[in-house]
Amino acid sequence: MSAHIGTDLALALQLLRAGEPVAIPTETVYGLAANAFDPDAVLKIFTIKQRPSFDPLIVHIGKSEDVHRVAKELPPGAERLMAAFWPGPLTLVLPKKMEVPDIVTSGLDTVAVRMPAHPLTLELLSLLEFPLAAPSANPFGYVSPTTAQHVADQLGDRIPYILDGGACEVGVESTIVGWEAGQWTMYRPGGIAVEAIEACLGMRLRRGGAQAEGTAQAAPGMLESHYAPRKPVHVGNVEDMLSAHNGERVAVISFRTPYPPHRCEVLSASGELHEAARNLFAALRTLDTSDCELILAEHFPEEGIGRAINDRLRRAAAAR
Ligand code: TXA
Ligand code: MG
Repeated sequence: MSAHIGTDLALALQLLRAGEPVAIPTETVYGLAANAFDPDAVLKIFTIKQRPSFDPLIVHIGKSEDVHRVAKELPPGAERLMAAFWPGPLTLVLPKKMEVPDIVTSGLDTVAVRMPAHPLTLELLSLLEFPLAAPSANPFGYVSPTTAQHVADQLGDRIPYILDGGACEVGVESTIVGWEAGQWTMYRPGGIAVEAIEACLGMRLRRGGAQAEGTAQAAPGMLESHYAPRKPVHVGNVEDMLSAHNGERVAVISFRTPYPPHRCEVLSASGELHEAARNLFAALRTLDTSDCELILAEHFPEEGIGRAINDRLRRAAAAR
């Protein structure tokens, strides 16, 4: 079985209805999707990704009202967040309905839900009778895919179809927040700035909840090495790292300036954090397949989507 890439919605519908997984575009990264109400279909996602069963999936819905198909109730403020940020890169962790299979939520009594902002996938969802459970469409632990070709490069021989929606506009995964101990809590920085969520709720987000990404059901730190290329990654001051690794075959990921004569992926020459986020994962993939031995990445401004960039680079660096 080798994957076809295309924009054939009818084929995607047919496969999903038959309980087969399909890779789908979202504004953040590509997802590997299956019928969220069909445990056998969802199991295929875990097998293809070689994802451990303790790492729960995000359920994707096509309209806000569908949140009630998977969530038992909405905590205070949830509707305000949905109105402000859906469709978009914000995932809400909500009390789950019994109908959501345990395999989707790793047996938790909560379910992660979002409405993605991608026209093709929204159209797909509007035609389907069920929501789609979808993690990022990469082998477990590797960098998330931001083009259909990225998906094909790694999972092409394991999935029947990749719906091609072009390059992802946001480029890093959704921000994940959940209601925990009577407070909105931050689980993963992502496409929506923490600052914007706090402004919307009119209160500070609680940090590092019990279910922060990587600690959901696993031993603490277990998923620390996520979003990781095969090559070692170091994060810090580029000039200092270049001196420390003088003579080695290094490549650099920088925000706005190149570091000649070294190979360098400049993520945004104009210094725009959203553009940098959009280019981050493709740069990691490019350097991972280049002939460098070591990837040196700059620390990005810790604000807005810059927090998500730093988070992904830190996790990539934690891999060794
Ligand atoms: O932007 C995104 O979020 C992308 C696109 C495809 O939507 N998806 C994505 O999925 O990044 P994935 O599987 O790579 O990350 C999902 C993460 C899990 O690792 C877990 O940390 C968190 O969502 N999660 C899911 N369900 C949860 C729950 N019930 N409680 C806490 N965290 C949960
Ligand atoms: Mg992932």
